[in-house]
Amino acid sequence: MARILTGIQSTGIPHLGNILGAIKPAIEQADQAGNDAFLFIADLHSLTTIKDASLRKEYVHGVAAAWLACGLDTAKHTFYRQSDVREVAEFTWYLSCFTPFPMLANAHSFKDKSDRLSDVNAGLFTYPVLMASDILMYDADIVPVGKDQVQHIEMARDIAGAINRQLGEILVLPEVSVQENTKLVPGTDGQKMSKSHGNFIDIFQPEKALRKTVMGIITDSTPMEDSKDPDTCTVFKLYNLLGTDPEIETMRGNYLGGNYGYGHAKQALFELILDQFADERARYNDLMGKPEMIEQELNRGAEKARKVAMEVIGRMREKLGY
Ligand code: ADP
Ligand code: TRP
Repeated sequence: MARILTGIQSTGIPHLGNILGAIKPAIEQADQAGNDAFLFIADLHSLTTIKDASLRKEYVHGVAAAWLACGLDTAKHTFYRQSDVREVAEFTWYLSCFTPFPMLANAHSFKDKSDRLSDVNAGLFTYPVLMASDILMYDADIVPVGKDQVQHIEMARDIAGAINRQLGEILVLPEVSVQENTKLVPGTDGQKMSKSHGNFIDIFQPEKALRKTVMGIITDSTPMEDSKDPDTCTVFKLYNLLGTDPEIETMRGNYLGGNYGYGHAKQALFELILDQFADERARYNDLMGKPEMIEQELNRGAEKARKVAMEVIGRMREKLGY
């Protein structure tokens, strides 16, 4: 049976864009495949940018709680923290010694990050090799990722090919599955919602803070009495992503009819978020109040993941004479 595997960044608490664009579709894809998908939190990768231990732990717990709250079934799938299987660092060294230097030097994501970040460390440069280990150490067949990560999967495949040619067929060649047509969620300023733009909606916030975020969505200054264009309004776009067809049609009518202010629309959006994510909010808050439960889930996942990893790293050590 084909193994699906993907890594999840832990550089912040997941926002509405991450939930609608990545978490919910990934859980659906894993469930549809019906098999034991491997999903892990890439907390070693996050060390390239986050040096503060307590912040990194907080993000790992926040990300884990968000995935669990959004319905990830850990009885069916393997959900773990990358750093809990430390052999990934050993495996990365083996892969590094089979990775041509120019392959890394030509990576778009390194070029992009090295232009943007002030801390350009060697970890950023070798990031794709650690990612290749994440994939190859678990015999993954299919790796679902966004477009920006495709080159990394191609590198993993090339590294596996080089090793198989030199050492014999010991690694599985992974295939990429590109997540196309996922919903693009706008942020409070109308641009793509992103942690780095500071325009995100954190659906797990307490009600009062969440309401404040929604009320802060930028709109134009059309007077309350006038008819408004729903299709250019961020509040409507967000409502459109969450509401049922009749709810959306009613909202469209309100915009076009006039005597309906943006404040009314924002209040309706706020109530819709509370309603749509009532279960997720409750589960998230419950888990964040019980970090030992999150740890228990992650430990259970790590145990399952380690069994596979030990077998693969065993094949590698044997071939290399270690
Ligand atoms: P951010 O831009 O907030 O840093 P990431 O780059 O960590 O988000 O993205 C994690 C996942 O969430 C990716 O699969 C990405 O495609 C998805 N994602 C991020 N922002 C959005 C958005 N605004 N709409 C839809 N999907 C998004
Ligand atoms: N680098 C990926 C990202 O930024 C996360 C990741 C780490 C990953 N290791 C992986 C994804 C292995 C797929 C497979 O989103």
